[in-house]
Amino acid sequence: MQNNSIQIDKEIQDIITDKISGDIFRLIGQTADDIHLECYAIGGYVRDIFLHRQSKDIDIVTVGKGIELAQAVAKRLGREARLSVFKNFGTAQIKYKDTEIEFVGARKESYQRDSRKPIVEDGTLEDDQNRRDFTINALAICLNKERYGELIDPFGGLADMERLIIRTPLDPDITFSDDPLRMLRAIRFSTQLGFDIESETFDAISRNKDRIAIISGERIADELNKIVLSPKPSIGFLQLDKTGLLPLIFPELVALKGAETKDGIGHKDNFYHTLAVLDNIARKTDNLWLRWAAILHDIAKPVTKRFDKKLGWTFHNHNFIGEKMIPGIFRRMKLPMNEKMKYVQKLVTLHMRPQVLVDEDISDSAVRRLLFEAGDDIEDLMTLCEADITSKNPERVKRYIKNFKIVRQKLKDIEEKDHIRNFQPPIDGEEIMKIFSLSPGMEVGRLKSSIKDAILDGAIPNEYDAAYKYLVEKAKKIGLEPKTS
Ligand code: CTP
Repeated sequence: MQNNSIQIDKEIQDIITDKISGDIFRLIGQTADDIHLECYAIGGYVRDIFLHRQSKDIDIVTVGKGIELAQAVAKRLGREARLSVFKNFGTAQIKYKDTEIEFVGARKESYQRDSRKPIVEDGTLEDDQNRRDFTINALAICLNKERYGELIDPFGGLADMERLIIRTPLDPDITFSDDPLRMLRAIRFSTQLGFDIESETFDAISRNKDRIAIISGERIADELNKIVLSPKPSIGFLQLDKTGLLPLIFPELVALKGAETKDGIGHKDNFYHTLAVLDNIARKTDNLWLRWAAILHDIAKPVTKRFDKKLGWTFHNHNFIGEKMIPGIFRRMKLPMNEKMKYVQKLVTLHMRPQVLVDEDISDSAVRRLLFEAGDDIEDLMTLCEADITSKNPERVKRYIKNFKIVRQKLKDIEEKDHIRNFQPPIDGEEIMKIFSLSPGMEVGRLKSSIKDAILDGAIPNEYDAAYKYLVEKAKKIGLEPKTS
């Protein structure tokens, strides 16, 4: 067995001992002793012990056959343990209560340049630690009885955790070219944990950025979503920008950069503005898709930007064009093309409306229309609009906040009075067809919309009898009479 364990102080040893005092670790260690295998807890679980983060995923590495150990452990755990073996990968997983334990034999890996598929050979613990991504993820704790709780930290991962540093164990060019996803992982860990990326590691990301091309969109999206869900996501986006990765994975966001001036009139830099909105919203909500709406709310500003001699810079319809750009972006980035995307689209389309309401003196019918279109997402829309206030002028900020307060009150009053939020017109298309003996077609759609509009405009109350009367009058104008009474 190698012995590059370090002298660590008692406090840290106590933390480790406490964390692995549970039956599950003892049982894994004892089982490994019985079949004469060296065995360690390693990776994210060990890192999270020192970061005081809860983790339910345990990675176990054995010097020898990981699958064999997993099978023996599963047997001892009994019927509650669910074992899955992945022979091709030489790994196994046990699900036990709410914990997932991954088993793998220690490996020595070398990678081919054009693929992520490594050539795998059995190796020592040291070989295995060498091939891990960052020093903070390469810590191992021995579970064999003789050395139970011994920390093996060959690259100073513990010290890096204290210094808040992300650093690769080997030459970063090797670590990143072995698996280019690690470049994104470095930025993701830095954003999640508030760590700095050590300068050599950072420079290597810039040098190797083009290798990201061999990584699947799904794995990139996974990391990007973790950046978006971090406490201050702008940290990650600024690093992606600085390393040159951002244009490769999200060119539309890079296109927001720059603040042009013409005839002495400037506009704000929409890249930094978007990141400020994202950070604002991150302080308010963990809703990933609301955070994506913040990222995308101004995405069409570059393509809609015009300079008008009278008006200055304009971005007409950037909300509608932005809504239309979203499916293409989601498809390419392997984000879900389902109701989550539709929710993001809806918020992007509507994001100017509350402000327009203020500008237009807030008529009841405009409020009703907004409530109808936003439905249950009205609260999220208001959160987005408030996050969109990034002006540096305190007077202006105060005014915006006051205006949105008025809008919120008005939304509340109208909703209490008219119940528009989840409103369906009291007469639907089916019934219209029955009343006038019509087949499906444009006429039915038009009549149905006219009822909806009349209610939203306040011309008639949101009630059946009033809607029926209105419908009959409207139909008469196009020569239709009710066939039923
Ligand atoms: N690992 C690696 N290179 C990768 C992915 C993972 O070296 N591209 C190693 C690291 O040692 C990592 C461990 O495998 O700690 C487990 O990986 P994973 O479960 O993906 O990540 P965690 O580090 O546990 O972190 P998180 O759960 O936040 O993703």
